[in-house]
Amino acid sequence: MSEFIDLPVSYFDADFTLDPYSLLKDLYQDDKVLGFRSEGMNFLFRHDDCRSVLRSPLCRREPLANPEFQQREERYAKLYPNRLWEMSNNFSMGEVDIKLKSQLVRFLGNIEKSASFDDMEPIFKQLSEGKDLPNYIDQIATLPLRVILETAGLIIPDKEITDVYNAGCTYLKSFENLGDESLIKDADDAVVLLRDFVERNYEKFNPGTLLYDHVEACKSIGLSDEKIKANLIGPILISASNTMGISSAFFLRNLIRYPEVRRKLQDNPELLNNDNVILEFLRRDNHVKSLSRHAHGTVQLGKFELTEGSSICLFFPGANLDPKQWQNPLALNFNRDFSPNNHIIFGGAKHVCIGKTLAVTFLRRLGQGFIRYLPDAVSVDGSKITVDGDWVAERIITKMPITLNAVS
Ligand code: HEM
Repeated sequence: MSEFIDLPVSYFDADFTLDPYSLLKDLYQDDKVLGFRSEGMNFLFRHDDCRSVLRSPLCRREPLANPEFQQREERYAKLYPNRLWEMSNNFSMGEVDIKLKSQLVRFLGNIEKSASFDDMEPIFKQLSEGKDLPNYIDQIATLPLRVILETAGLIIPDKEITDVYNAGCTYLKSFENLGDESLIKDADDAVVLLRDFVERNYEKFNPGTLLYDHVEACKSIGLSDEKIKANLIGPILISASNTMGISSAFFLRNLIRYPEVRRKLQDNPELLNNDNVILEFLRRDNHVKSLSRHAHGTVQLGKFELTEGSSICLFFPGANLDPKQWQNPLALNFNRDFSPNNHIIFGGAKHVCIGKTLAVTFLRRLGQGFIRYLPDAVSVDGSKITVDGDWVAERIITKMPITLNAVS
């Protein structure tokens, strides 16, 4: 008996990405199985196992040093110094820098409180005029980045927003794909662009803006300019490019394919004010697919053991759809009660997401526009959704055409 059984399709398979439950539903019940294996990686997919790993002090982001890993990292360090610069300054690499993390949470929290989200209007206008959205992803892609930067006090031209967004996506592709050197090289180039962007703007942050206040607050806790700049790149620019926009595509897809849910919200728009409703959409599906941890000691998971040195991927959609945790998991049920102890939508323990409050508000505001303007006849053709399959971590839907006044 193997603890990890082979997935009958590749982890990157588009159908599995868009509907993982059909392959997992029988596995949940099989207590001889700890996880599934695909593309040379082992995945945990049950909520309790993923939570235990996230909370275990023995399970860390960085692999346990072994000769193969060390040799590769040393080579990468020489060849790709910009990526190394970003990583070694990032607040969440190695021991989490709690003071800096708290300040980043405050910064994003202030953005959430001040943002007008007016930049969503063109999408709503298109919906209200009955114009189809040929590719929703293109419409939404750079919006979160623009909202964050504008609210924080930095107005920049469209072209530059697009360049930063593309660099953010490029970087993230390398995030869990350490063995693919071409992605590492691209990530290194992306950091050069992002670093140049931050350097050029850093001295221009104006007093009275959230960016200025953030930099001052960082300085007051003793951080160097170098550290502050690096942590505007990873946690803010890269994260903004890859999170809320893509998750909103999954949100919209579910609003469209479950008309009864959409109607319920249209009849009771105040439901969207409840964070649990937004969390329920995120539980059903969001952009986070898999993140890894590495055992720095033996870790007990029920009757199974993760041996020291082993690497494990946490399959977040599996945890979010675990029927032991969520009765009738595919159903969008607004009566579910979410607490920090019963879901890992935003991770858990020390690496919990810094952008969760902003993300919930962003999605709420989009949702309010969606339900106001989506006509009854709206449809999304599942066969026309395309996914970018070789990202281990996230950013999956790449094209999602939406027809507003579908005539079938
Ligand atoms: C729907 C939106 C979002 C979801 C579902 C989400 C989900 C997650 C999850 C699951 C983690 C845990 C990673 C781990 O344990 O390894 C995480 C961490 C993180 N998230 Fe988010 N996230 C979202 C939005 C955002 C936004 C808007 C930002 C910032 C602009 C952001 C920045 C981060 C950062 C920097 C971390 C790493 C935290 C650390 O290592 O301490 N996220 N997120």
